[in-house]
Amino acid sequence: MKMHSVSSLSLKVTRLLLGLLGTFLVGATLVNAEPYIVVSGDLRGEIKPCGCAEEGDMGGLQRRGTALSNWRSEHPDVMYLDLGNNFPKPSAQGKLKLDLIQQALKLLKPVAILPGPYEWNYGQATWDTFLPYLLSNAIDLPWSQVISQEIGGERWEIWGYVTPSLLYQNENDPPNLVPVSDSLIQQWQSQSQPGTKRLLLFRGTSVEADRFLQSGWFDRILVGSTNDDELNQVTTFTTETQLLQMIPTKGQGLYHGFSSSDQLEVRWLRPDTADWESLTPLFTNYDQEVKQLFLSGLKRMQKLQQETQFVGATVCTTCHTQAHQSWKSSRHSNALATLTRVGKDFDPECLQCHVVGFQQKGFLSSQLTPQLANVQCENCHGSAQEHIKNPLNHPPLEARQSCVNCHVGSHSPSFNLSTYWPKIQHK
Ligand code: HEC
Ligand code: HEC
Ligand code: HEC
Ligand code: HEC
Repeated sequence: MKMHSVSSLSLKVTRLLLGLLGTFLVGATLVNAEPYIVVSGDLRGEIKPCGCAEEGDMGGLQRRGTALSNWRSEHPDVMYLDLGNNFPKPSAQGKLKLDLIQQALKLLKPVAILPGPYEWNYGQATWDTFLPYLLSNAIDLPWSQVISQEIGGERWEIWGYVTPSLLYQNENDPPNLVPVSDSLIQQWQSQSQPGTKRLLLFRGTSVEADRFLQSGWFDRILVGSTNDDELNQVTTFTTETQLLQMIPTKGQGLYHGFSSSDQLEVRWLRPDTADWESLTPLFTNYDQEVKQLFLSGLKRMQKLQQETQFVGATVCTTCHTQAHQSWKSSRHSNALATLTRVGKDFDPECLQCHVVGFQQKGFLSSQLTPQLANVQCENCHGSAQEHIKNPLNHPPLEARQSCVNCHVGSHSPSFNLSTYWPKIQHK
């Protein structure tokens, strides 16, 4: 009896679902042509997740490529926009990344890119002129002031605002941006075509955002991220009058949705989104360039080899047998092999946490300093050079504070001394 009623219920549910599916299919064919908006931004040099921990394994350009091409095959009219702040912090390796990022963006084909402060750090000369950089509040700059797009039977204008107050004032490369004012908005309005929809890519203060909101002139305002913490993602931007949608930081998520939808949805780029193969050659090339940069630095570093402050774990064995044994069986003693396994044992951005004293007169390379490979005693206890000369007078550092030099952010989101220390405990 019970069984019977359950199965008739499930039959009803099935019918209902089939009905809904039918409506959905009819609906889908009708609204198919409606523009579909996809938004990225705030990559901040995080071109690929490091893979240090599952919880932090999000983002990257390759997954973005797959998500985008899936949406492009589902929806005939995708309008893909980018809020900028894509470049890394300035460094020699950062320059290589910046090239990769811009080459990748050319293949991902955004309609518009708003350059953020991270792009400005490198100067406008580094911005690829074949990419659609957009700055509507600039004076005498070679970038687009407004980008119009005929899409899914709708005409869209994309405007872009970057507040001058956020930018470093470099005399040789001044931002030449004007702050929002009534006359700026009027000037934009006078250049606008009638009958268009308008979207603003925005990076500025909440007061500035309210000026644009009060104008009532934009159908949608999308905000670049003001958040640095990838573990506590913030996706709203609060003004006096409204909550605006703010892109997740470090490229970990995209916005997507039909142009008519009130709110776009966030799509987090987790490992279930495969890597887009069209970008693979760029990443292979980048790895080769990083390797060359690493090896060229090595020649300079070799001179420092004599000055090294670190002695390596083998030296400790005789006097601290138990500590050495527990270290040997921990994952720390394998940390460089991990990088070799993922093809990254030459990348300075990875080595800093996977070996002893990288760029601090310690590890140079597996060949030159094999005794300093992996995470070892001296990563936590500090240099033991004086200690081995005179153990009683020079005890090494008490090491409890050391963990968070490496177990930080998305590299170790679930780190907690009380659960991690017991796994590697020794005396
Ligand atoms: C800020 C320090 C830091 C940096 C930089 C770093 N790692 Fe890690 N990595 C860690 C820590 C800490 C763990 C262990 C995380 C845990 O288990 O909580 C780890 C673990 C890993 C693991 C997982 C090992 C396993 O078998 O589960 C991989 C793979 C890895 N890192 C690769 C990389 C790569 C590649 C880079 C450079 C792109 C990198 N790491 C940069 C700190 C770092
Ligand atoms: C020649 C023997 C010897 C060698 C080699 C040696 N130690 Fe020690 N270590 C000692 C002695 C002795 C003490 C003091 C023990 C005590 O006070 O109970 C000590 C104490 C320590 C302590 C505890 C300090 C504290 O605050 O109590 C640490 C940590 C330590 N050693 C790390 C190392 C490391 C790392 C190495 C290798 C780089 C090393 N030791 C090599 C003999 C040695
Ligand atoms: C991941 C960091 C880490 C590594 C690697 C590490 N230690 Fe420790 N070590 C610690 C911490 C934390 C303590 C505990 C300190 C405390 O109890 O406050 C400790 C305690 C010790 C003590 C005992 C000090 C005491 O008085 O309790 C010795 C000796 C020691 N370590 C030696 C070594 C040696 C030798 C190695 C390498 C073979 C090593 N450690 C590797 C973090 C580390
Ligand atoms: C120099 C950077 C560094 C420091 C300092 C460091 N770790 Fe680690 N830790 C790593 C890396 C890298 C890994 C991953 C190694 C691998 O699997 O390749 C790791 C892995 C671990 C793991 C294994 C995680 C697991 O799930 O099995 C534990 C536990 C751990 N660390 C505890 C600690 C503790 C506790 C401290 C401080 C006392 C500490 N670590 C200090 C870099 C560091």
